[in-house]
Amino acid sequence: MTYTQRKQRDLWEREPIFSPSSNNKNYPVKFIDLFAGIGGFRIALEKEGFKCVFSSEINKHCQKVYEDNFKEKPYGDITKINPIDIPQFEVLVGGFPCQPFSISGHKKGFDDTRGTLFFDIARIIDKRHPKLVILENVKHFIHHDKGRTLRIIINTLKELDYFVSYQLLNANDFGLPQNRERIFIVASKIQYFQFEKLQKIPTPQLKDFLDKKGDFEILKKEEYTLIKNPKVQQPSGLIFVGYRNKNCWKKGVRPNTSHLSRVHRQPNRIYSIHGTHPTIPSQETSGRFFIYNDEKQYVRKLTLNECYKIMGFENFKPYHLVAESYKQIGNSVAIPVIRAIAKETKNQGLIRRNCCEVIV
Ligand SMILES: C[S@@+](CC[C@H](N)C(=O)[O-])C[C@H]1O[C@@H](n2cnc3c(N)ncnc32)[C@H](O)[C@@H]1O
Repeated sequence: MTYTQRKQRDLWEREPIFSPSSNNKNYPVKFIDLFAGIGGFRIALEKEGFKCVFSSEINKHCQKVYEDNFKEKPYGDITKINPIDIPQFEVLVGGFPCQPFSISGHKKGFDDTRGTLFFDIARIIDKRHPKLVILENVKHFIHHDKGRTLRIIINTLKELDYFVSYQLLNANDFGLPQNRERIFIVASKIQYFQFEKLQKIPTPQLKDFLDKKGDFEILKKEEYTLIKNPKVQQPSGLIFVGYRNKNCWKKGVRPNTSHLSRVHRQPNRIYSIHGTHPTIPSQETSGRFFIYNDEKQYVRKLTLNECYKIMGFENFKPYHLVAESYKQIGNSVAIPVIRAIAKETKNQGLIRRNCCEVIV
């Protein structure tokens, strides 16, 4: 640790800790929202009393949605940001795209991150040293490049003087009826974040999140097959009840197994409203998510509004292009999970006032 960094940490140690119970309206904790998408992190942190002072998002469609909802157009390409131009902040958050690091890297730290978008997060941290960093990524990130990607990121954050913790969390443990596992990395200047202290909420049923009325796309009876004795799968909470009768692959398929190609393709699968919904992915632009309502005896498509609800979005202004909206929501974050983390960082005293000096 350099002399300047040591001095900075000594100063932080003497600062008052934010009270976990209050939202500190007069001195809100300031954060920057990187890879902001449609602002999932922002909604969660604002609900916990944090204040957004800067955002960055390169995609024009996301920028428009962000502006419609937060009255602020995010800065574009993160690679063009000069860290010293960002206003003062204490917390950095972002769900960054997962990219492989160059195989030529040997140091397994900061230098290995060059040429990736994580490098841009690291160079902002290096210049501004926020007290807290919260990052989110897809589940397979843990095994990406045989675990090397995660290792380099953790080593880089350690090299930048942080206590780093990470954990796989499922949205279904935080009051949402969605089986959505994501990795969360929390880096703190004060001490390790204790994920085990997160307040969990029992998994609700999908039926409690459904629109009461609407122009539902209901399938005809001959368009699907229901299976006998469906069971709840654990720990996902999914109840697979049937599949759509789409065309089967016939070529190169063993006799009497062709129906399996229907069953195993995610857009063909149908789930009960008494369980959870599978992860809303970012690749599905036509919203082929089908649910079975046994009370009404029909199979219908989940509406876009319901997709927002099972990610924790409320009263959100969606985009006028439906395909883009499906992509955006699948790329976003489960809001209650981020909210629980943000709340717990306050409880654990990881946020103190007056932070984020420019270190040059
Ligand atoms: C996984 S999504 C994050 C979504 C966000 N957490 C939300 O709640 O909607 C990653 C985002 O990074 C954005 N992105 C990719 N490259 C970028 C760059 N060079 N500068 C800024 N944003 C970028 C993408 O457009 C995408 O919206």
